[in-house]
Amino acid sequence: MKQKIAVFASGAGSNAQKIIDHFRASEIAEISLIACNKPGAGVLTIAEQEQIEQVLIEREQYKKDGYAAFLKEKGINFVVLAGFLWKIPQPLIDAYPRKIVNIHPALLPAYGGKGMYGAFVHQAVIANGEKQSGITIHYVDEHYDHGDIIFQATCNIEPGDTPEQLAQKIHLLEHAHFPAVIEQVLQQH
Ligand code: GRF
Repeated sequence: MKQKIAVFASGAGSNAQKIIDHFRASEIAEISLIACNKPGAGVLTIAEQEQIEQVLIEREQYKKDGYAAFLKEKGINFVVLAGFLWKIPQPLIDAYPRKIVNIHPALLPAYGGKGMYGAFVHQAVIANGEKQSGITIHYVDEHYDHGDIIFQATCNIEPGDTPEQLAQKIHLLEHAHFPAVIEQVLQQH
């Protein structure tokens, strides 16, 4: 039975676009819903262009059950966080055990947790003189950036690299790996 994936995102949606592209002709899964908490976010434009159902996440309802009931109603089997900045509430974790994955733009457990997102991550990595960074794809639990790690990939940091240059290297890793890792996880279930 074809899995129905909901992608949660708050920003530009470049990862969401790559995931949509990857599953476009897939037999095993389809992107059935784009959920976003920020009106006007780029990911909502992508949902329009791709004619994928979208839902604007309201904070009050989200705090109640993380839209778990809504997702179940839509027949969603799997949840992908692709730059979604709100913590996942327990009811949503409970509704989708080991069926929610997240991508983080650093090598967890370092450089993760509340407030560590986007440029803040790359600034901290460079400020600490790290020689490499990378991405982490992990199962989601009730803490930020904390669940079991599924996959990591690394990139080198050259002397003089700016946070923007590091962000570009990280985005390349994300786009290269996230869709395929999602597919691998789906095939394990
Ligand atoms: C990515 O860097 C991802 O690692 C982080 O949020 C960002 C989302 O970027 N969780 P985009 O909206 O997919 O372009």
